[in-house]
Amino acid sequence: MVKKSKPVEVIDLDNLPKPGYAVLKLTDFSTAALDNAVRDLLSALEQESVAVASENDWKVFRDRWMARKNGVLKQINDLWLKAAPKEFRRDVGQKVNELNSRVAEVVESRRVKGIQRSLVETFQFHDSVSAQVIPASVDVTLPGIRRPLGAEHPVIKTMNEIISVFRNLGYSVEEGPEVETDYYNFEALNFPPNHPARDTQDTLFIVGQESKPLRDRLLLRTHTSPVQIRTMEKMKPPVRVVCPGKVHRNDAPDATHSPIFHQVEGLAVDSNITFCDLKGTLDHAMKALFGSSVKTRFYPSFFPFTEPSADVQISCIFCGGKGTRDGGPCRNCKASGWIELLGCGMVDPNVYGFVDYDPAKVSGFAFGMGVERIAILKYGVDDIQLFFNGDMRFLEQFG
Ligand code: PHE
Repeated sequence: MVKKSKPVEVIDLDNLPKPGYAVLKLTDFSTAALDNAVRDLLSALEQESVAVASENDWKVFRDRWMARKNGVLKQINDLWLKAAPKEFRRDVGQKVNELNSRVAEVVESRRVKGIQRSLVETFQFHDSVSAQVIPASVDVTLPGIRRPLGAEHPVIKTMNEIISVFRNLGYSVEEGPEVETDYYNFEALNFPPNHPARDTQDTLFIVGQESKPLRDRLLLRTHTSPVQIRTMEKMKPPVRVVCPGKVHRNDAPDATHSPIFHQVEGLAVDSNITFCDLKGTLDHAMKALFGSSVKTRFYPSFFPFTEPSADVQISCIFCGGKGTRDGGPCRNCKASGWIELLGCGMVDPNVYGFVDYDPAKVSGFAFGMGVERIAILKYGVDDIQLFFNGDMRFLEQFG
C-alpha cells in the first residue's frame, strides 16, 4: 500500500518567533503600575510554559526564568526590587517573593510534562517533527536510500532445483514436522530402541519427555525420512514423493558441519520397483544437477530402513574423475576421483509393516541427500557456515 505523504508545512528556521517578554525597568512603583508589570510577567510565564514540548525545551525555559546570572527572576530582583524607592520596597519585595514562588512552581510543574512529551515525540518523530522540520533542510542532491531486491537463498535455490528434477519425473512434494516423535524419526524406520544405528544420528531431544512412552517422546528430526512414513500412512501405492526440509543434529559447527541443515528425501513405492529403477533415477538426477558428463557409482552401505543400502558417489566434478588436478592430487575428492553424495536403498520390508503395506505385493526405493552438500559442490562454496551467517557479500552472489 502506498502511504500518502502529508502536506508539508515548511518552517523558516531563521524566522522562528523569539521569546517576546523582556523585564522592564520600573520607574513608576505605584500599586497599579506594579500590578500591570506583574500581570505582563505572569502572562509571559504562562505562554512560554505551554510551549515547553521536550526535555530540552524545559531546560531552556527553566534557565530563562531561574538562571542565577541573568534569569527573569534575577532581573526583577535588580530592576524592580533594588531600584524601588524606600517607601515602595515592602510592597515590591512582597510581589517579588510571590513571583519567585510562582515561577518555581510553574517551572517544576512543566518538568514532567517536558519529559513525557519528549518521549511521545520520539515515537511520533517521523510523523510530526521530521515532516515539519526536516523537509526544510533536505538535500535533494544526496543519494536516496537503497532498498536492494532480495534473492533466493542458495540453499532454497538448490533445494528447488533438486525438487524440480524429480517433479519432471512425476514426483510430488510432501512435508512433515521438524519436531518429531521417536516413533517417526526412528522406530517406524526400523531403528529399534537402543539399536546402535541411532547413535549415528546425533539427536537433539526435547526436554521433559521422560514421563511419556518412548515412541511419543519428542526430538528434532535428524533426517527427512520420517516423512516417508507419514506419506505411506496416508497414501496407498503407487507413491512417488520428494520430501524437502530442515533437519537437526548435535554436530559442532565447522567448515563441513552445521547443527541445522537441509535434506531432500525421495520415496517411490509401487508393485514392481527394482534396484535398477533406483540406479537409473539417481543417475539421471545427478546428471541433471551436475551435468551430463557426471558418472555415478553405488557403494554398499547400511541404513536400518533400506535393504540393500548404498551410498552414491559421483565422479569428481573438479578433476573430471581423474583424481589429479593442476599436476597434483585433487583436493576435492582426496585424489580418489569420486565424491560421496547421498544415501539410498530399497525400502526394508519391515518398514512396510509399520504403514500397513503388504511387502509381498509392493517394493520401492528411498534416497536422501544433503542440500548444503550439493550446493557446496555446485557453487564451489568452501564453508557451510557461509549459508547461515547472513553475510550479504556472500548471499548477493546468488541474486
Ligand atoms: N535418512 C538418511 C540419512 O539422513 C539418508 C537416507 C535416506 C538413506 C533414504 C537411505 C534412504 O542419513
